[in-house]
Amino acid sequence: MDDATYDIGMAGLGVMGRNLALNMADNGFAVVGYNRHPDKVSEFEGEAAGRKVLGARSIPELVAPLQKPRAVMLMVPAGAAVDEMIGELLPHLEPGDLIVDGGNSHYRDTDRRAKTLADKGIQFLGVGISGGEHGARFGPSMMPGGHRDAYERVQPIFEVIAAKVSGDPCVTYLGPGSAGHYVKMVHNGIEYGLMQLIAETYDLMKRGLRLNNDELADVYHEWNQWELQSFLVEITSDIFRRADASTDGRVIDKILDKAHQKGTGKWTSQDAMDLQVPVPTIDTAVSMRDMSTLKAQRKVAAERLVGPAPECDADKRQVTELLRSALYAAMIVTYAQGMALLRAASDTYGYELRLHDVARVWRGGCIIRARLLDDIQAAFEAQPDLPNLLVHVTFEKAILDRQGALRKVAQTAVVCGLPAPGLMASLAYFDAFRSSWLPANLLQAQRDYFGSHTYERIDKSGFFHTMWEQV
Ligand code: 6PG
Repeated sequence: MDDATYDIGMAGLGVMGRNLALNMADNGFAVVGYNRHPDKVSEFEGEAAGRKVLGARSIPELVAPLQKPRAVMLMVPAGAAVDEMIGELLPHLEPGDLIVDGGNSHYRDTDRRAKTLADKGIQFLGVGISGGEHGARFGPSMMPGGHRDAYERVQPIFEVIAAKVSGDPCVTYLGPGSAGHYVKMVHNGIEYGLMQLIAETYDLMKRGLRLNNDELADVYHEWNQWELQSFLVEITSDIFRRADASTDGRVIDKILDKAHQKGTGKWTSQDAMDLQVPVPTIDTAVSMRDMSTLKAQRKVAAERLVGPAPECDADKRQVTELLRSALYAAMIVTYAQGMALLRAASDTYGYELRLHDVARVWRGGCIIRARLLDDIQAAFEAQPDLPNLLVHVTFEKAILDRQGALRKVAQTAVVCGLPAPGLMASLAYFDAFRSSWLPANLLQAQRDYFGSHTYERIDKSGFFHTMWEQV
């Protein structure tokens, strides 16, 4: 066994853990990799040959070679596996050692673990990591939260392995406690929203305009050259071109239209509800994944609930241009909802988030990276207290210029009977947010009528009740 000279331990050598460890090793850090399945360890050792890497087949083998105070990163599935791994590690760690959870853990679990470990003198960081396999290997976006001094211990490693945008690493200390995992959760909520919006434009072009896969690939490729430039639009174009290995068609047409989910989008909606922050595009995206799973019911309903023919006989070029503008407007609204949620969460949970830093670490490496984030970063840099992106001069102009397109696209969807609830929810969010009056006075009257819940008045302060049933 080597001396205790290794920089960091990686517990969990699945896709993310293995690639992060290799990324660290490529950048000159000495890494010990552990997995409870020895074949994963052997695979890792094979891939890491030539670098300062050690495979560990037990927890003592993972811990012993690490420099003190030790740093162990967990890349195991969120939930019980994280607690189990921490439980197995604890007897082998000492006060001052650091555990980093790099999975998609729920932020409440992160708070609980941080507290339990602090009682034992063990430091804990909850780090959101985005970018999938490729990101982990060559540069992810990283969202660390916890004690700042704990972050500073791993900062040199994280800054080197993270994605770079113009040389700037897509990682920075975000805030105390579960700030990092909260930001990653909202990242995923935005991810769900953007994916749903893109899927709706696909539906409108496929069933509405009858574009074929090559035409779809071309449209998304073209969109990706300008304001819509983003990872998700880019991969969408690639997807339509991919030939199927076992048939003469394209892979996209062989994929069952049932979307799975691990739950982070749902958590975003759930927490937004708790904090009373409206995020309707994200909520809709979660609901539409749920709707997609009702495949058997949808097949039956398709025979009975007949609507208009989806084909739209409008000029294809004109409609795709409208869709491009509508998608950009709805993307802005989706980021605006996510940022507003982060602002509220920061106030409620004491994260002290700097939203321009959040936008900065999302500019590269992560799934929601997009050109738009440069403007979002600049907006929050100029106005750190900006309550909503839609009232920043850049986005105000962008959305006002495109609201007409969003309305026309929503009309087309209605006329053709094609579901576009994400685009519509984004439009409705915009329309509600710009309404100085909403019909909530009626809701209050109804609540007071049936439940004596009282209401506030516009002409005097206080709470009032009307005996509605007495004339
Ligand atoms: C990322 C992704 C990643 C993962 C999602 C998938 O940022 O790299 O968000 O975390 O692919 O968790 O989520 P669903 O299974 O819920 O779609």
